[in-house]
Amino acid sequence: MNECEVLRDTAVAVVGDRIGAVGELASLREQFRDSAEIDCARGVLTPGLVDSHTHAVFGRARYDEQEMRAAGIGYMEIAARGGGIHSSVRDLRSRSEEELVSLARVRLERLASYGTTTVEVKSGYGLSVADELKTLRVIARLAHELPMRIVATFLGAHEIPLEFRESAKLRQSYVEAIVSEMMPRIASEHLASFVDVFCETGVYTISETRQILEAARQNGLQLKLHADELTSCGGAELAAEMRATSADHLAAVSDSGIKALAGSNTVATLLPGTMLFLGKESRAPARKLIEAGVPVALATDFNPGTSPTPNLPLILTLGVSQLRLSASEAMIAATVNGAAALGLADAVGQLRPGFSADLALFDMQDFRELPYWYGDRRCLGTWVRGKSCYPRHLQLS
Ligand code: NIG
Ligand code: FE
Repeated sequence: MNECEVLRDTAVAVVGDRIGAVGELASLREQFRDSAEIDCARGVLTPGLVDSHTHAVFGRARYDEQEMRAAGIGYMEIAARGGGIHSSVRDLRSRSEEELVSLARVRLERLASYGTTTVEVKSGYGLSVADELKTLRVIARLAHELPMRIVATFLGAHEIPLEFRESAKLRQSYVEAIVSEMMPRIASEHLASFVDVFCETGVYTISETRQILEAARQNGLQLKLHADELTSCGGAELAAEMRATSADHLAAVSDSGIKALAGSNTVATLLPGTMLFLGKESRAPARKLIEAGVPVALATDFNPGTSPTPNLPLILTLGVSQLRLSASEAMIAATVNGAAALGLADAVGQLRPGFSADLALFDMQDFRELPYWYGDRRCLGTWVRGKSCYPRHLQLS
C-alpha cells in the first residue's frame, strides 16, 4: 500500500472501454495512429476513485439529528426514540420509485464530481419486501442510466423494523422474511451483488447475522458486513470466518478481530467520516490493520445519518490525518483496495493495460495534494469505460 507508483510524462491509451497501453507519448502515438488526444498535462491522472460503501438512496436529510447529538443525545439514543434509521425508513416508504431515482441521481452526480467512478449503493431504508425491492430497483435504474459504475448491495438487515420489535418471535419472523422472501427474489432478479448486515449491539446479533450471511451465500450473493462500528461484538471475526469480501467500519474492532482479518482475504473498509460527523473520539486502528497485513480500503459511508458527505478525497484527508495513513496508502485504499472490497480487483482501480478505462483527472501536480487540499474539489473530469462521466460531456483539449 505504501508503493503507489507515480509515472511522469506518461500517456494512457484507451481502446474501446479498456486501457490499451500506458507509456511514453511518442511511442503510444506511433502505436495508436489517428487517435483523438486529450491533454492532461496540467494535472494528475489517477484510476477513478472507488467508493465501496454508501447508502445513497434515501429521502430527506436528517440535519435535525446533528443538532440533537450536539446537545448530548447519542446516535443509538436517537434510534431508540424512533429516529435515526427508522426516520429514514418512514420517509423512504412514503416515496415513489420515480422520486427516489431523482433524489439519488443528483446525489450520485455529486459523488462523481469529486472523482468517484465506481460506487457501491446499499438498500436498507425500506425494511419490508416491497420497499427493499423498490430501493434495489432504484439502484438498478441508476446503474443503467448513469455513466458511473454502480454496485448494488441488499441491506434488508439495516435495522429491526419498529413493527417487528414486540417479541422475539416477531423479530425472528423479520429475519425469516429477509432470508426466505427477499433474498431469493433479489438473487433471481439480479438486483444485488452483495448482502450486508448491520451487526451491532442493539441491532443484529452475531447469530442472526450468521443466519443471513449463510442464506446469502446459498443464494450465490457475495458478503459484506457492518462490523464493530460502535462496539466490539465479534463482527470482524464473523466476517473473516464467513469469507466476506469486506468488513466495514471497524472503529471498535478488537485485537482478535484484527487477527482474524489478517488470516482471511477480507478487506477492512474504514469510514472515518462517520466518526468525524458523529463527533466520536474512536478511530479504526488502521496502522495495526496494515501492519497485520490486512488490505485497507477507505469509503465515504455516504448516508443521511452518520456521514452525509459525497467527497471521497476528504475521506482520504481523514485517512492521513486521523488514521495515520501515508498519502500512498490512502490512494491505494480508495482505488486498488476499494475495487477489491467490491470483488472488482481485476477490472478497476488501476491504470494498467486490460483494466477498464475508469480514470480521474485532478487539478494538481502531485497525487499527495489529493488528501492535502482538504474539502476542495480538484477533480477536472472522470471517464468510466472510456466514456466521459463527469462532467457529463467533458471537453478537455
Ligand atoms: O453505516 N451503521 C449503520 N448504517 C449507517 C448509518 C445509517 C443511518 O444512520 O441512516 C452507517 O453508519
Ligand atoms: Fe454504512
